[in-house]
Amino acid sequence: MHYLKDTDLTPAQIKQVLALSAEVKKYPARFASRLKNKTVALLFEKASLRTKFTLQIGVAEMGGYSVLNDGRIPDREPIGDIARNLERWTDIIVARVYAHSTLEELKNYSKVPVVNALSDLYHPCQVLADMLTLEEHFGSLRGLKLAFVGDGNNVANSLMLTCASLGLHFRIATPKGYEANPKVIKEAQNLNKKSKGTLLVTNNIENAVRGADVIYTDTWVSMGQEKEADTRRRIFAPYKVTEQMFKLANRGTVFMHCLPKHPNEEVTEDIFESKRSLVFEQAENRLHTIKALLNFLVNGA
Ligand code: CP
Ligand code: NVA
Repeated sequence: MHYLKDTDLTPAQIKQVLALSAEVKKYPARFASRLKNKTVALLFEKASLRTKFTLQIGVAEMGGYSVLNDGRIPDREPIGDIARNLERWTDIIVARVYAHSTLEELKNYSKVPVVNALSDLYHPCQVLADMLTLEEHFGSLRGLKLAFVGDGNNVANSLMLTCASLGLHFRIATPKGYEANPKVIKEAQNLNKKSKGTLLVTNNIENAVRGADVIYTDTWVSMGQEKEADTRRRIFAPYKVTEQMFKLANRGTVFMHCLPKHPNEEVTEDIFESKRSLVFEQAENRLHTIKALLNFLVNGA
């Protein structure tokens, strides 16, 4: 089984990984040998702090080994050949890539699970940590209203899919032309029919944040978009998360961000540093959720 996008796990499996994550967090010693004699290949085309550290720490804490390679894929040989080498030596391949198609190709050639550590389309490992964080903070995910304000990017796509799988109410406000991927929107709408979740796709911030339990944002300039930085900063300026938005939301509304933030761009420093901000809880939970996910993929529970 591979994990390239959020919906590679069924809703029941997402819940299972979240329950396992809570157990990992509370009783880490129980998991100390779960990856004994297992090796994880880590391929990173892009920079990372959280994903790279939590993978390596998580694998080590479960008694396994990880081997890291930074650099473009493919470098010297075709992606299919890379996959057919790595699968002979390792038990899981985890890759952070520019193009999602690179992951698809790794998957097509690999007999061992391939995990998406972020692509241009999705960031599913992040969203597992976000769901654990919300569950801890609110006691349950049931009925939560999550407003994403900013760029319809990889993090937004993954949040949209997971919220639809689990029946949350997701609203996304982006500038015109920066909406989430239309295929992902369609997939989320279909999932919502079953889960009873809802989805609002809008350019209007007020409609998205009114009554929301969570206001989530991400950088306006994702890795690989550096050349568009000036244009993006201008277009996204009205979408900066401010105190004003929280006045339209609920009393207990929390702020979330996958990190890294671009200082004083997508969110004010006051909100980022406030008691509402769960950003470092999210970051901590990257460790517990990646351990649970790897354990689930290798051992099935
Ligand atoms: N949130 C996240 O994936 O952070 P890194 O880019 O530092 O891994
Ligand atoms: N959207 C951001 C997320 C970083 C974790 C990016 O792709 O750069």
